[in-house]
Amino acid sequence: MGALRISLTDRCNLRCRYCMPEEEYAWLPREDLLTFEEIERLTEVFVSLGADKVRLTGGEPLLRRDLPELVRRLAGLPGVKDLAMTTNGVLLARHAEHLREAGLHRLTISLDTLRPDRFTELTRRGTYPDVMAGIHAAVATGLTDLKIDTVVMRGVNEDELADLVEFGKKMSAEVRFIEYMDVGGATGWTPEKVFSRKEILETLAREYGPVEELRKTDVAPADRFQLPDGTVFGIISSTTQPFCATCDRSRLTADGMWLRCLYAMTGTDLRAPLRAGASPDELRELITGTWQQRRDRGAVDRVGQRARGQQVFVSVETLKRDPHLEMHTRGG
Ligand code: GTP
Ligand code: 5AD
Ligand code: SF4
Repeated sequence: MGALRISLTDRCNLRCRYCMPEEEYAWLPREDLLTFEEIERLTEVFVSLGADKVRLTGGEPLLRRDLPELVRRLAGLPGVKDLAMTTNGVLLARHAEHLREAGLHRLTISLDTLRPDRFTELTRRGTYPDVMAGIHAAVATGLTDLKIDTVVMRGVNEDELADLVEFGKKMSAEVRFIEYMDVGGATGWTPEKVFSRKEILETLAREYGPVEELRKTDVAPADRFQLPDGTVFGIISSTTQPFCATCDRSRLTADGMWLRCLYAMTGTDLRAPLRAGASPDELRELITGTWQQRRDRGAVDRVGQRARGQQVFVSVETLKRDPHLEMHTRGG
């Protein structure tokens, strides 16, 4: 078992068009959300099965009250070698220092544009200055190993790739460009809007000169590249060149549904057995049995479905019936 991604809430304070394009959403019932104790107990079980990399996501994880307290608990678990978080940065300025003190190892901030007007148009909330303040606070507080995740969409922000690389350099953060995925509630997705890995590389090579691909040393989704001046950036090409074959990650939703793939249509409810008093051994058995049968190749399957002309993203009606299918529920 490899990396575990834990979504702490399905709520978000932004409405990015590629992730939450709708006006209204069905939310997870509040009483179903795992408590910090429950998250800690489940994490211990996963860690005992070899999941030594843990990433906290959302929705927006900083919306979860007392988050540093959870970070402290998880960072203190002996088997957790790497504890990271993905955030949109809006609330980061007031939390960065506490997160570092609590023992967070790494931070990834989503940022798709450096233009305030575009930010508002894309996220439909006017909080660009807050995100900038958040990134600067993270840098100032000494949270090293900072990354910036940019979803590249044709006609939206493909003209900002070099600007984002330059911004990353200034912040000592590694920028990763992500292909727009037809996942969960991305109901605005069309193939034309995907700005592909190939196009990203061509754009940056035009700007900077020859781009060198670095040898892969892990199973992370990003492939890494180097510009002539030594700057390293990543590309996550889930849409045109999926990496399912080497994927070792699974995810836990805020209400304890365990998903073996980002694209999975069903998962395993761990909240019910946990609340019914299942022992760590019983939970381990449930998890290993399911993991051994894992055949998931969600993004690869999508490539085939698209080639056959099938509708790829989940319909709004289905999403309203089951919020677990949403990207903001399963944590990016
Ligand atoms: P590290 O490599 O540990 O830094 O983290 P990461 O790349 O997993 O982290 P992050 O949360 O920043 O993920 C980046 C993006 O990769 C996500 O927003 C998704 O677009 C994509 N991604 C993450 N997990 C999966 C997955 O299981 N499958 C696919 N196809 N894409 C994923
Ligand atoms: N395509 C690609 N990435 C997405 N994310 C959410 N929706 C999509 C999508 N349709 C990812 C982005 C964002 C993170 C929180 O979730 O990487 O930065
Ligand atoms: Fe945007 Fe992330 Fe919120 Fe989705 S969960 S709306 S990508 S900030």
